[in-house]
Amino acid sequence: QAEISRVRNLDKVQMGKFEIEPWYFSPYPQEFQDVDMMFICDFCLSYFGDVKQFERHRSKCTLLHPPGNEIYRDDYLSFFEIDGRRQRTWCRNLCLLSKLFLDHKTLYYDVDPFLFYCMCTRDASGCHLVGYFSKEKESADGYNVACILTLPQYQRKGFGKLLIAFSYELSKREGKLGSPEKPLSDLGLLGYRAYWQEVIVDMLMEEGRTEANIEELGSIAAMTTNDVLHTLQNLNMVKISVNHPTGSGLGNSLLSSNAREQKNQHVIVLTDAVIAQREKQKEKDKKVGKHVIDPDKLIWKPPV
Ligand code: COA
Ligand code: NA
Repeated sequence: QAEISRVRNLDKVQMGKFEIEPWYFSPYPQEFQDVDMMFICDFCLSYFGDVKQFERHRSKCTLLHPPGNEIYRDDYLSFFEIDGRRQRTWCRNLCLLSKLFLDHKTLYYDVDPFLFYCMCTRDASGCHLVGYFSKEKESADGYNVACILTLPQYQRKGFGKLLIAFSYELSKREGKLGSPEKPLSDLGLLGYRAYWQEVIVDMLMEEGRTEANIEELGSIAAMTTNDVLHTLQNLNMVKISVNHPTGSGLGNSLLSSNAREQKNQHVIVLTDAVIAQREKQKEKDKKVGKHVIDPDKLIWKPPV
């Protein structure tokens, strides 16, 4: 589709109490291409080029949360599951909105094959969309996320990591390993790398752990072997030992791996540098009161 590579078409969008500047083109209908400001209803995601029309809509709109089941709730957040087939208009509106911040995803109209997991914060006026990810009802490639977005007004506050963590909690419930659909955007890759590193390093630093292998780490975290291996390689934590797998002297913490490459043995080395970096990050997280997903609060069974 030639359309999607077109340049950014909207200057400003108002959504809830925020005014945001789109990053990319999104195929909103022709009559919205030249409006000064587009008004988007925080709840039903319908769009208006005229403030009067928008206000009229707001006085009538009764939606107070995304139109699906609330499958997770803690003090901080709620998640709703929305079926693209049952809530076509809402999901198409969501895709149009998110295309403003994605340069390569092409899904707008065929939302039927997807479920949308929408993360909201709650206040007296309702549940406000912060971000979401879509997921194919059946992914032949085993992807657990198709598209993922934190609305720009909420970015860099840890919500992306919470979305990613939630996607892996669903995979754990399904008893499957998951990975996001490729290609990832630059920001997507940054977000995923940060999440993968954190989770893997935390597993390795767990008290009492003396051994690990890539398959085991993957199955605990519902991550693919590939994603675990690449994360370890990015952190310079994989050494090849030609000696006995438990051969010491490669690093302070040696963890042997089952993965064999020819006759050599992959060895996971938890380096001082990685430990120091993680400790520093934990301090920072503590200071800002970082939130985590509590698996016990996920009320969900894989759809059949
Ligand atoms: N520059 C550098 N690193 C960044 C970054 C940026 N602009 N944005 C995220 N990261 C990295 C950081 O390591 C960050 O951790 P830190 O803030 O503790 O350093 C980590 O990603 C996670 O950040 P977080 O605040 O949890 O993510 P987010 O809420 O900003 O959401 C995305 C991340 C990818 C969902 C968000 O950037 C987004 O929606 N982008 C546009 C849509 C998109 O490209 N989606 C992916 C499609 S494949
Ligand atoms: Na993606």
